[in-house]
Amino acid sequence: MSDSSLFIYVLAVLPVILLLSSLLKPSNRKLSHIPTIGPSAPLLSYYGVYKFLFHGPDMIREGYTKYKGGAFKIAELNGWHVIVSGPSLSDELRKAGDDQLSFEEAVNTSLQIQYTLGPSIHHNAYHIPIVRSQLTRSITGLFPEVRDEIIASFADAIPLTGDEWTAVPALDTVMQVVCRTSNRMFVGLPKCRDPDYRALNVRFTIDVVMGAAIINLFPDVLKPIAGRLFTNVNPSVARGMRHLEGMILERYRAMEEFGDDWTDKPNDMLQWLMDVAQGEERTVRALVLRILTVNFAAIHTSSTSFVQALYYLAANPEFAGPLREEVEAVISAEGWSKAAMGKMRKVDSFLKESQRIMGLGAVSMTRKAMRDMVFGDGTFVPAGTTVSVAATVHHDEAVYEAPDVFDPWRFANMRDEWARARSTRCPGRFFAANELKAMLAHVVMTYDVKMEEEGVLPPHSHFGTAFVPNRTAKVLFRKRQE
Ligand SMILES: *[C@@H]1O[C@H](CO)[C@@H](O)[C@H](O)[C@H]1NC(C)=O
Ligand SMILES: *[C@@H]1O[C@H](CO)[C@@H](O)[C@H](O)[C@H]1NC(C)=O
Repeated sequence: MSDSSLFIYVLAVLPVILLLSSLLKPSNRKLSHIPTIGPSAPLLSYYGVYKFLFHGPDMIREGYTKYKGGAFKIAELNGWHVIVSGPSLSDELRKAGDDQLSFEEAVNTSLQIQYTLGPSIHHNAYHIPIVRSQLTRSITGLFPEVRDEIIASFADAIPLTGDEWTAVPALDTVMQVVCRTSNRMFVGLPKCRDPDYRALNVRFTIDVVMGAAIINLFPDVLKPIAGRLFTNVNPSVARGMRHLEGMILERYRAMEEFGDDWTDKPNDMLQWLMDVAQGEERTVRALVLRILTVNFAAIHTSSTSFVQALYYLAANPEFAGPLREEVEAVISAEGWSKAAMGKMRKVDSFLKESQRIMGLGAVSMTRKAMRDMVFGDGTFVPAGTTVSVAATVHHDEAVYEAPDVFDPWRFANMRDEWARARSTRCPGRFFAANELKAMLAHVVMTYDVKMEEEGVLPPHSHFGTAFVPNRTAKVLFRKRQE
């Protein structure tokens, strides 16, 4: 079944699911003091859920405007989502410890990890410290490889002839580039270029996102069935094993023969995982699943962010000039390096502004309450509730001048404020930021870009709080003319 027909099928049965879950839903008495956006009567609140799926950002904006600086709630299928705003509540949420408001548990729920990735990924997240430390530390040393893969993957994905314009599906192209570039650091050459291996990782990423979205439509008691029907983990792992088994066994042989270090020891994510994996995690199957998981984490958010920036650039080609000037100046002084990426303030600002204006979603800093919690203003949140900050702050006139205007240089001189407004817990954020800057710098230095319909940004959509970029629009590329 194709993605869209599967989705339509699920949406068609949604009313039945909603009715079923209304009979199974816990009461909301403990939350009755928090105002509701959308209907809150027991059965009617399911109309609110339905509305939220398709008009999430509008509802968040309504709540933000009505209850600015306070809290409001929105009905989701499996309970209430409490959304706070204002510096004081946002700060409290950010500072709360993991035993109080858990980031991992919120991710566990939104991604339905035990079905979409498997229980071992959540119970033993040993890849996270590796991403946070080893991957981040290696950005400088491995930069030449990342740069090399960005050049090669754009060149392969965009077949240019002379000075002609070539139209390519933007999201598809960006996912290919991100997948190859990330895998240069995950499994190295030549595997990162293998067409079937790349297709597998892109497919797996889409499977996780779609699978989680669908499973989250079902009430908890039906989730195990939905999990069986709408996920594809085992066939994906089997396909990944065909690609990586030989490499893994070969590396184990070398580890046995030479110990911890040897000439030509690979320096990539797979090896870092193999160096520390314990027990069950040492099996080929477990390592392959781990590699698929880091691929999902690397490909999904980076591609969503980058494609939106690319749409803005293609719809406003006049922004290429200032970006080129900056990249040229930095590169002629520094060459292509991680340090150089750190000095490209306009490139950085362009990426941040496209994220600000579209965002990865209508809420941020989502956490799950592990025990009852009382905020400083008296707002009571019972254990088990999902809590977020309204991302509407990024469209607040009190915070940003002309918030609905795309101003690509807005952040060039205010990075600290941004960092505070958008604190992210993603362990791979430094790797991702570096990769996206290197990609945007490469695009402006190498190509002219425009939209098919000149000057027009392709329409995007939302699913619940999640921003969904346009998945089919094409961007035109040609060899850079000036
Ligand atoms: C992850 O969430 C599911 C419910 O969606 C829950 O059953 C499971 O226990 C959670 N995992 C952990 C380790 O808490
Ligand atoms: C994506 O963009 C194209 C071209 O602008 C448009 O025709 C299409 O309807 C858009 N898709 C969605 C889902 O908005």
